[in-house]
Amino acid sequence: MRYIVTAAQMKEADMRTIHDVGIPSLVLMERAALSCINIMKQEGVDISNPLIVCGSGNNGGDGFAIARLLSEEGIFADVVLVGRMESRSEETRTQMEILRNLGVSVGNCLPDREYSVIIDAVFGIGLTRPIEGTYKEIIEQMNSYDAEKVAVDIPSGICADTGKVLGTAFKADITVTFAYAKRGHIFYPGSELCGQVFVMPIGIEAPGLGKVQDVSFALDMEDIWKLKPERPADSNKGCFGKMLLVAGSKGMCGAAYLSAGAAYAAGAGLVRVYTEESNREILQGLLPEAVLTTYDERDGESAVRQLAELLDWADVACMGCGLGKGRTAVMLTEALLEFNRKPCVLDADALNILGENHGLMEILKSAKADYILTPHMKEMSRLAGHTVQEWKKERVELVRDFVKEYPAVCVLKDARTLAAAREKQLFINTSGNAAMAKAGAGDVLAGLTAGLLAQGLPGWEAAVLGVYLHGLAGERAAADKGMYSVLARDIIDGIGMTWKSL
Ligand code: ACO
Repeated sequence: MRYIVTAAQMKEADMRTIHDVGIPSLVLMERAALSCINIMKQEGVDISNPLIVCGSGNNGGDGFAIARLLSEEGIFADVVLVGRMESRSEETRTQMEILRNLGVSVGNCLPDREYSVIIDAVFGIGLTRPIEGTYKEIIEQMNSYDAEKVAVDIPSGICADTGKVLGTAFKADITVTFAYAKRGHIFYPGSELCGQVFVMPIGIEAPGLGKVQDVSFALDMEDIWKLKPERPADSNKGCFGKMLLVAGSKGMCGAAYLSAGAAYAAGAGLVRVYTEESNREILQGLLPEAVLTTYDERDGESAVRQLAELLDWADVACMGCGLGKGRTAVMLTEALLEFNRKPCVLDADALNILGENHGLMEILKSAKADYILTPHMKEMSRLAGHTVQEWKKERVELVRDFVKEYPAVCVLKDARTLAAAREKQLFINTSGNAAMAKAGAGDVLAGLTAGLLAQGLPGWEAAVLGVYLHGLAGERAAADKGMYSVLARDIIDGIGMTWKSL
């Protein structure tokens, strides 16, 4: 598990380490500078002819320390200070002074010559407003050099909390950050402008973060080992759960097929698809492994009666993929919320129906079952109000507010999917790619998550593991088919390849 922090949380961790633990800030700077040099060497960056551009804050201090350490190796960087000559930071003043004592001069404009690498130490996580004027010109000039680009902590111009570009931004090939990744490294467009991110320990980690509240986290491959459901040798299909999938209105059987296929690929024992009668033949042809029960869209009352029986039979449920919003779909969604006591994933049209029905949202508030909701931004906007733009801008705060009101796990799908639930740290997903931006990918996620629930994972674990695996499966699919041609069904194959690779 990797922690992801905001600028304020990082500063708090920094301060605790300096004041409570007693590690001097100059020691942290030294370690930060050393790890930048080590990563550059490790990654084969040509450091023989560097330009280091420093700001007047502590990020600049890291840059000056890099210049000094390189000079010890006989590599004399051109060092440029942008902004105030007299830094407010004592540490940065000290770093500058040591450099001067060593005879390394610090200029104030970018030389017109060639460099092997440009090191950006203008702004780190202390960026608080859009970059303008001379700063903007200098950062754009830094981008125009034909050299490798390395950012210290975070590329100048990226907001450490949102990943947004404030005014302009340095385009790094490599970013070396310290202690923890910041949200700005993960959220777009920051993520792309960081290049490859290396998170290096500098002594802050254990003592500092223990007390910092409310950090977010991401999963990595090792976490799959810890979270994955058991698969004992002495087992049968009954050991891995009976899942009821309510999906697929007339002409939408593909959604049911994709969700059911993903649930099986996740490892579910038995998937029963409850779908519209007209989907029977084609679904049976596509996925003979799924057990089918069908309803007639024209007879909502019978469909609801049957649903109640099926919910009794199932261990977990998943509803909404390709369900439509017709009268029967609405009746089924209402009935599910009323009768269901089993862990359940609600996706797509089930969420749209919920969003249009205040009474159902009230039932959800006091739900007797564990729900995982998997909306994309538009569905989230319908479900909980606010515009899509507001959701994009304030996603972290808004999704947290939502789960304060509703006792569900909310998986907010986007290029960087979030998962939130009461009393849980915010999860930020780091797997996946643009190849997955295809119809049906959401159906696969819903089925995969429900398939993990069916195997006994608690809701929160199923949600975060589901999202992470889904992204990894998409990466596998893209490795096979390229970024343009991945189909949702390829992501199902990717789930199998991901499990297999463990
Ligand atoms: N335009 C112009 N100036 C701006 C803008 C803008 N758009 N936005 C912010 N600034 C200025 C601020 O006013 C501030 O200037 P000032 O210090 O002269 O008032 C400066 O930019 C702050 O920028 P940063 O260097 O990014 O921020 P900070 O000084 O907080 O340092 C830090 C960030 C701590 C170095 C972080 O990147 C980090 O954790 N680095 C690695 C670990 C490390 O070195 N830790 C020890 C640091 S020493 C200590 O913490 C006391």
